[in-house]
Amino acid sequence: MEASARTRHARELFAPLGPTYDRYARLLSFGQDPRWRSFLVSRVPADAHRVLDVASGTAAVAIELARAEADRTIVGVDQSFEMLAAGRERVAHANLGDRIELREGRAEVLPFGDAEFDAVTFTYLLRYVDDVPATLRELARLVQPGGTLAMLEFGLPRGGWRPLWELYVRVGLPTAGALVSPGWGGVGRFLGPSIRDFWRHWPEPRLLDAWREAGIDDVQARRMSVGGGIVVWGRRA
Ligand SMILES: C[S@@+](CC[C@H](N)C(=O)[O-])C[C@H]1O[C@@H](n2cnc3c(N)ncnc32)[C@H](O)[C@@H]1O
Repeated sequence: MEASARTRHARELFAPLGPTYDRYARLLSFGQDPRWRSFLVSRVPADAHRVLDVASGTAAVAIELARAEADRTIVGVDQSFEMLAAGRERVAHANLGDRIELREGRAEVLPFGDAEFDAVTFTYLLRYVDDVPATLRELARLVQPGGTLAMLEFGLPRGGWRPLWELYVRVGLPTAGALVSPGWGGVGRFLGPSIRDFWRHWPEPRLLDAWREAGIDDVQARRMSVGGGIVVWGRRA
């Protein structure tokens, strides 16, 4: 499949970030995104032994999934060679190379058979794909019936928190990003419009319907940190 403009943009965006991703991603989310990832991982049942983590990046979720259960193996897939390179170093440093395999690939066309995994996680992925329902179907295809799918995404805070969020993504984030590096400056400018745009097209009820239409039951969502993060999870029908 030919890479679309959106896919190419995501590749260029993440290419320079690998070595510094973990440090600044935490800083730019006010220290919140490790909490969100932990909640995401807690949605995956202990008896999910073989787990696929898509948009695995520097393997933060994959490592947490491995640490949660000693007999679990994880395949992490990401389209960015550079993010995976940083992920491989991190996995080696954590001594988890025997349980975490990182592979280059795209969420839209994953090189695995139907129902190969007990669970699938994906983090900050759906804003980068052209066809959200088709990607959800592809992810659901890989999970055995009854297995869990769980995702994490940035959310849009509501009420009085929203103007503060707007101020942060319009002024704070671009400024802080630009101070770190040109690559992070690009992320700082991109993130606010990308998050706003995603939720304009996929308000929460519509997104949860798309999960159900992809063949996922018992779909639930939890907004965290006044809505700055959202975890969605469900069970393959
Ligand atoms: C913000 S990072 C998140 C990385 C990691 N999951 C985490 O929580 O730190 C988003 C990742 O999605 C990857 N990505 C974007 N579009 C993708 C696609 N279509 N298929 C696979 N990976 C994709 C990027 O390369 C990037 O590493």
